[in-house]
Amino acid sequence: MALIVEAVDLKKTYMLGKIPVEALRGVNLKIESGDFLAILGPSGSGKSTMLNLIGALDKPTAGTLLIDGVDVSTLNDNQLSDLRRRVGFVFQFFNLIPRLTARDNVELSLSIADIGKAERKKRAEELLETVGLKDRIKHKPAELSGGQQQRVAIARALANNPRFLLLDEPTGNIDSKTAREIMRLVKRLNTEKGVTIIMVTHDQQLAKEAKRTVQMFDGVITSDVVN
Ligand SMILES: Nc1ncnc2c1ncn2[C@@H]1O[C@H](COP(=O)(O)OP(=O)(O)O)[C@@H](O)[C@H]1O
Ligand SMILES: [Mg+2]
Repeated sequence: MALIVEAVDLKKTYMLGKIPVEALRGVNLKIESGDFLAILGPSGSGKSTMLNLIGALDKPTAGTLLIDGVDVSTLNDNQLSDLRRRVGFVFQFFNLIPRLTARDNVELSLSIADIGKAERKKRAEELLETVGLKDRIKHKPAELSGGQQQRVAIARALANNPRFLLLDEPTGNIDSKTAREIMRLVKRLNTEKGVTIIMVTHDQQLAKEAKRTVQMFDGVITSDVVN
């Protein structure tokens, strides 16, 4: 299996005015292609900071982060944005565009460079079918349940065949039954489509469904177990 993420003594310090906030204080983590990690930890323990670094949304303060073997600290802004395009992000508050249909929300994320309009529509429909929303393609976000909106967000995140899917508390805003359904979908993407998944969650039960459970506390990883 190929190593797609390797963090060595990774640190991130934010400056809050003149006060440094040490969000990551030396994280060591290896993620292989096809892995499925659940990251658990109390609020403020550095989970989102970790996802943001892995997704090239932000740069580390110290330590090393290799993505596909490339040290992100050596990349310029253009190279970082190229890297970001190969990452699928899903957030707690779906972040869909209200005025657009499910299909148009997904289509918007398909890179316009290499495929035509008709092909993009078809691909968006296929992605919605993958997440179980074949019969909802023309619905707008307000016409969908929370779980369905999150499925649209997942379809959108898959649009450009990402190297991995980063989900930051994707079930934090939906009921527990729907949360289990979303978890089943994410699990299926991992087992059937081979998508590498890194998912932050507050839910211990859901975390056990992943292949690995990583516990964070106060900016470090305190345990990393194979389920
Ligand atoms: N942009 C920022 N500026 C300053 N401090 C931040 C910023 N983002 C996060 N932090 C701080 O870093 C720590 C870790 O935050 P975060 O990674 O969001 O934790 P989690 O996702 O586990 O709740 C917290 O103390 C938080 O207040
Ligand atoms: Mg967070």
